Amino acid sequence: MTTQEAIALENLYQIPTYARMPIALSRGKGSYVWDIDGRKYLDLYGGHCVALLGHSPTRVVEAIRAQAEQLLFYSNTVYNDTRARALERLGTLAPEGLQHVFFCNSGAEANETALKLARKHTRGPRIVAMEGGFHGRTLGCLATTWKDAYRAPYRDVLPATTFVPFGDAAAVEEAFEAHGDIAAVLLEPIQSMAGMVEAPATYYRTLRDLCDRYGALLLFDEVQTGVGRTGTFSISTQYGVRPDCISLAKSLGGGVPVGAVLLSDEIASTVKPGDQGTTFGGGMIAMAAVEATLQTLVEENLMPRASNLFEHIRSGLEPLGCSVRGRGGLIGIVLDRPASPVRAALFEQGILTGGADDPNVIRLMPPINTPFEALDGFCEALSSALNIRQTVEIDT
Ligand SMILES: Cc1ncc(COP(=O)(O)O)c(C=O)c1O
Repeated sequence: MTTQEAIALENLYQIPTYARMPIALSRGKGSYVWDIDGRKYLDLYGGHCVALLGHSPTRVVEAIRAQAEQLLFYSNTVYNDTRARALERLGTLAPEGLQHVFFCNSGAEANETALKLARKHTRGPRIVAMEGGFHGRTLGCLATTWKDAYRAPYRDVLPATTFVPFGDAAAVEEAFEAHGDIAAVLLEPIQSMAGMVEAPATYYRTLRDLCDRYGALLLFDEVQTGVGRTGTFSISTQYGVRPDCISLAKSLGGGVPVGAVLLSDEIASTVKPGDQGTTFGGGMIAMAAVEATLQTLVEENLMPRASNLFEHIRSGLEPLGCSVRGRGGLIGIVLDRPASPVRAALFEQGILTGGADDPNVIRLMPPINTPFEALDGFCEALSSALNIRQTVEIDT
C-alpha cells in the first residue's frame, strides 16, 4: 500500500475527528519512526506521549509475544500471575500510601474512575478543575476539561464543575467557600496541552491543605507526568505532596493501551465489589506490557535520564534565546512567534513535534532514552528553522 492509498482509505472510513500529520507510518524503533515510503523521522512527539521507552521497546515486545502464546485475555473474574506481577511492580513504584490499583484501558477511563470514587467517597457532586486543563473526552472527564469548544455542545449533561485559574490557590479556597458540595480538586500537575505550564511546589502543597481542611480529595491526573517521565515515578513526590488518587495511562504499557488509578489506603478501604469495573482492564497482554515497561524503567535507570534529557535540551536551546518549560520528557519551547510554521519546517527536516493551545509553544514528549546526539540534531534543526523563517520574513 502506498502513502496515498493509506490516507485515502483512512479518510474514507474513519470519522474525521483527528487533525493529522500528512504521513502514514509503518515502523518504529527507539526514537525513530519510518513512513510507508521508507522516510525516517525523529519522533519528539513520542507517539502522542506514549513511547516513553522508544518505539517497540525490545523487552515489551518480547513480553507481549510470550504472553500471547500463553493466554491472550481473561477478565478480572479470575486471578492471574502476570497481573499479579504487574501489580507488584506498580505498587512498589507508586508513592508511599498509594499502593492500591485499579486497571483500565485509557487516560480518560482512569480519570473517570478517580472522579467516580471521589464522588462516592465524599458524597459531593462538584469538582474543582483548572482553566487550561485537559482530562479526556468522555462525559465525566469532559466536564473537567477547560477548552470550551470541546465542552459546549454537552453542557446540559455534564457534571457540576467549577473552573479556577491554574496556579491560583486563593481561587480554590474561594471555590470551597462558595460551594459546600465539592468532592475533589482535579489537576494536571504540569498542564501539557496548555503549553507545559507548571506552578510552584508550594501551590500543590496548599491544594493538599485546602482539600484536607474542606474534606475533599486531591486528584492528580498524571496521564502525561507519570511513569517516570518527569524524573520520578510520580511528580507528586517532587512537590512533597501525597494526592488521594493518581491517574496513569499513555507511557504505562510502553505502547500497549492501558490505564491505571493509584488510590490511597483510605479510599481503597471503602471500595466494594461493583463500585467500578471494565472487561478489558487488567488484561494479560496489557499486564505483560506494564510489567516489562516498569522493569525496563528501573533496570535501565531511565527516570534520572528524563531529567538529564530536559537539561540537555534546555542548554542546547539557550543560544537560540527560546525559553523552555516543563520537566524531564515533557518539554515546552516558547518561541517569539507562532510555532506552526516552525513545526512545519522541522517536519520537512524529518522531525515530529507537537503543538499546544498556546500558539507560540512547541511541545516535545520524546522517549526519555532519546540519544543526546539526536537532541543536538533537533536543536540545530530548530535553529535553522527559526533562521529560515526570519529570512523569509525579511525577504517578503
Ligand atoms: C493529561 C491527560 N489526561 C487525560 C487524557 C486522556 O487520555 P486518553 O486519550 O488515553 O483517554 C490525556 C490525553 O491526551 C491527557 O493528556
